[in-house]
Amino acid sequence: MKIIHHVAEAQSIVAAARASGKTVGLVPTMGALHDGHVSLVRESVRRCDQTFVSIFVNPTQFAPHEDLDKYPRTLDADCAAVQSVGADYVFAPEVGEMYPAGFSTAVDPPAVAVPLEGVCRPDHFRGVATVVLKLFQCVPATHAIFGSKDYQQWKVIEAMVRDLNIGIQIVAGETIRDPDGLAMSSRNRYLSSDQRRIALSLSAALRQAKQMASDGETSVDAIESAMREQLAETTRIDYARVVDAQSLETMTQIDRPVVALVAAFVGQTRLIDNQRIG
Ligand code: PAJ
Repeated sequence: MKIIHHVAEAQSIVAAARASGKTVGLVPTMGALHDGHVSLVRESVRRCDQTFVSIFVNPTQFAPHEDLDKYPRTLDADCAAVQSVGADYVFAPEVGEMYPAGFSTAVDPPAVAVPLEGVCRPDHFRGVATVVLKLFQCVPATHAIFGSKDYQQWKVIEAMVRDLNIGIQIVAGETIRDPDGLAMSSRNRYLSSDQRRIALSLSAALRQAKQMASDGETSVDAIESAMREQLAETTRIDYARVVDAQSLETMTQIDRPVVALVAAFVGQTRLIDNQRIG
């Protein structure tokens, strides 16, 4: 496996692969990789002839008060993890390679970016959409694999690819969880053992939402109240919502496929999780 730091080199390797008819998968990440990320790399290796993993802690998707500076950076371990499952290249650019002096363009994200995370982290998806479009240009792959753990992010990228006619196939990987149900996240390492116990209330709330819906509850209000009760021990709930699974628009009755999404702080750590229902 080779580590690439420069855009031009990545572009020429992908161009050569595609000229010889190969499929190329890209797994965009910010590093601090866990088994959730690794499952996406496996999916790419299974589907594609060549796999690139990008590792770039993107400053433009963090608000000034967020954890950019303390975000874990573990490049050596990350490279070993993705190599062990068959990745061919890691693309790990420096910040100045992605955002050289004078950089000033951004992607205005699609409508699906507006609710939920869009309310709590106002410029987040602008940063995500911009860097992901750049990564698609730096590593012009045939396929890109995203986790449905970041459900709204996946929908934002799908809409951007559709709206801007980007020639890349978006593939979603399922959420990988610890045995106790906690969705794996690079931020879980910030949690103390007591906080980790409280963090389990996110997946518990989602399980309860799914159970209520499968028991026949169709009132979104009733399910959202039950989720908020489950999350009572968290430090702060950003949202606990049941919304349309495609548009993420608000609804009152479950009469089509929906997704339950939660975001809550446990101490200083902000966690998100989601579950498709129906
Ligand atoms: P990051 O948080 O590192 O996540 C990289 C990818 O791993 C995302 O597609 C995310 O949904 C997926 N992922 C995270 N936890 C997962 C889990 N438990 N199971 C399965 N997949 C999981 O998301 C980002 O980075 C950034 O916003 C990025 C897209 C790289 C743009 O900077």
